[in-house]
Amino acid sequence: MPKITFVEHNGTQHIVEAPIGKSVMQVAVDNMLPGIVGDCGGCCSCATCHGYVAPEWAAKLPPVQEDEEMMLEGALHTRPTSRLTCQIVVGPDIDGLVVELPVSQF
Ligand code: FES
Repeated sequence: MPKITFVEHNGTQHIVEAPIGKSVMQVAVDNMLPGIVGDCGGCCSCATCHGYVAPEWAAKLPPVQEDEEMMLEGALHTRPTSRLTCQIVVGPDIDGLVVELPVSQF
């Protein structure tokens, strides 16, 4: 099973197993990780699943779609590698993904 590393704003790392087909947001919520809430359940309308993908991963993931981009425009502390983790689906190729969590969600 792929593994994803979530890094809290204070540097605390959580390495979790990510079932194929789930969103990265759902993986975080299922593991009760602090920093990802997923208020809207993954329908791209809350931005409480905001995270920063590691730069080496940014180009490997499917590109940001228009609705995700619009939600990110209203999110706090965005960076060039900001993503809504509900829009990233776990596949075999995602093993090793690193997602840093913004301070604004703690
Ligand atoms: Fe609401 Fe991702 S969970 S936008």
